[in-house]
Amino acid sequence: MDINYFKKKLKEVLSEKRYNHSIRVMETAQELAKLYNANIKEVTIAALLHDYAKEFPKKDLIDICKECCLEETNDYLQAGQILHSFAGAHFVNKHLGITDTDILNSIKYHTTGRENMELIEKIIYIADAIEPQRSYMHVDEIRKLAKENIDQAILFEVNKKIEYLISNNSIIHHNTIKLRNWLITKVLNNQGG
Ligand SMILES: [Fe+2]
Ligand SMILES: [Fe+2]
Repeated sequence: MDINYFKKKLKEVLSEKRYNHSIRVMETAQELAKLYNANIKEVTIAALLHDYAKEFPKKDLIDICKECCLEETNDYLQAGQILHSFAGAHFVNKHLGITDTDILNSIKYHTTGRENMELIEKIIYIADAIEPQRSYMHVDEIRKLAKENIDQAILFEVNKKIEYLISNNSIIHHNTIKLRNWLITKVLNNQGG
């Protein structure tokens, strides 16, 4: 299966706006894949399809999450934002025959992150946050960091994300907390601390 096939399938389930976002995430992820010597083909497919389930009916997302990943979604079924990631991994497997674990996990964890993320998962996670049309406070700092040290970029991004979630009195997924703790330890260790 080639990229054009996946693009065609993606167009069937996404609005033009979201499809164009997916293309920008793919291009950003490809640049990062080159910088960090990741597998370009895997990164391309994962980035392109990361929001595959974004516009599916919420009821379908909840039903699938209960089936595929209850443990990670049960406390968050009303926090709609995270469901499309978990359900997305399920649907690209069922609808598009994707079986590569790294691709599936990149889609599954692109919203919450998780501890021990693989390189490809980190690339999709941060590419989604910094694609060229993203505009929020500190995005330029995160863009710059992403090219220098992907762990520090994600740590900075996740700190800002958690601050934002707190200021909105929103739920924070436990994977996001674990991601932050893992990165803090990792970044500190790499600084020789
Ligand atoms: Fe998403
Ligand atoms: Fe996205």
